[in-house]
Amino acid sequence: MKRAKVSVIGAGQVGGIVAFQIAQKELADIVLVDIVEGMPQGKALDISQSAGIEHFDARVSGTNNYADIKESDIVVITAGVARKPGMTREDLLKINSEIVKKASEAVKAYAPNAFVISVTNPLDIMTQLVYKTTGFKKNKVLGMAGVLDSARFALFIAEELGVSVKDIFPMLLGSHGDTMVPLPRYTTVSGIPLTELLPADKISSIAERARNGGAEIVALLKTGSAYFAPGSSAVAMVESILKDQKRILPCSVYLDGEYGIKGVFIGVPVKLGKDGVEQIIEMKLTAEETAALKRSSEAVAKGVKELGI
Ligand SMILES: NC(=O)c1ccc[n+]([C@@H]2O[C@H](COP(=O)([O-])OP(=O)(O)OC[C@H]3O[C@@H](n4cnc5c(N)ncnc54)[C@H](O)[C@@H]3O)[C@@H](O)[C@H]2O)c1
Repeated sequence: MKRAKVSVIGAGQVGGIVAFQIAQKELADIVLVDIVEGMPQGKALDISQSAGIEHFDARVSGTNNYADIKESDIVVITAGVARKPGMTREDLLKINSEIVKKASEAVKAYAPNAFVISVTNPLDIMTQLVYKTTGFKKNKVLGMAGVLDSARFALFIAEELGVSVKDIFPMLLGSHGDTMVPLPRYTTVSGIPLTELLPADKISSIAERARNGGAEIVALLKTGSAYFAPGSSAVAMVESILKDQKRILPCSVYLDGEYGIKGVFIGVPVKLGKDGVEQIIEMKLTAEETAALKRSSEAVAKGVKELGI
C-alpha cells in the first residue's frame, strides 16, 4: 500500500519541526518546500539521517520546486515571515498574504485533492486566503491555532494545580491572538470543571498568559517565534486526518451560520477525520461568550476586508 504524502511549504522553524515529527511518527513521506536554495534539501537530509537512530521508515525530501508537492494528501503551509520590530500588522498582512497566495496557487495546480492546514500568521485571515485562492471545499481547508492556544492554556492550568497536563481538557474558541475566547466552563480536569478547582481571577490570569503565549516566547527568544509546540499542534491535526482518528480539536474553519457567524474563518471545535472537517461542534454559549466570539470574528472579517478577499 502506498504511504501517505504530506508536503510542508515553508521549511523554516515550524516547517522543520512538522517534518521531523511526521517522520518520527511514520505518518507519511514528507516533501519540504522553500524558496531558499539548499535549505529544504539540507533539512530533509538531516531528518533522514536520524531515521537509523529513531528507527522510522519515511522518505523526507527537500525542494525549491512547487511541482514536487504533486499528489500530496495534506499540504501544511508555514511559509511567511514573523513580525519584526517596527513592522506594522498591516505590513505583515501584506507580505504574508503574497507568500500564502503563491503557495495556495501551487496547491491548487499541483495537489488539487489535498487537505490544506495553514499555519502562517495572521492565522485566520491567511486560512481564509487559502480557501479563496484554492477554491477547495470548506471541509478541506483549516487553520492551526486553537490546538496550540489550548495546549498553552492546559500547561498553565496543570502548573497552577500541580497535576499532570494529561488530565487537562481545555476548551477555547475564537481567533488566534488577542481576541481568543477561553471557556473555563467547558475546560475540565479529568472531567471536573475548572471553575470548581480555581477561583475566577486565577483562571483569568492563566487565560491571559495563554493568550499572550506567543509574545512571551518572542520576548525570550528575541529572534524568531515559537516553533516546537506550533509544530506539534499542526502534526496533531495531520495525524487525526491521516489516521481518521475523529479527534475533537479546536481549528480555524469556515463558518456558514454556525454560532451565528457566516463567511469567516474562526476557531471552533471540529471533528477531524479522513474527510477533513467532518463536523463543527456547536456548544451552548452564554451571552458574554457569544459577544466575545462575535468580536473575535469581526476582527478577522476586518482583516479579510483589508485584503479584499
Ligand atoms: N498559527 C500559529 O499558532 C503559529 C505559531 C507559530 C508560528 N506561526 C507562523 O508560522 C509562520 C512560520 O514561522 P517560522 O517560525 O517557521 O518562520 P521561519 O522564518 O523560520 O520560516 C518561514 C519560511 O518560509 C519560507 N518562505 C518564504 N516565502 C516562501 C514562499 N513563497 N514559498 C515557500 N517558502 C517560503 C522562508 O524562506 C522561511 O524558511 C509565521 O508566519 C509565524 O507567524 C503561526
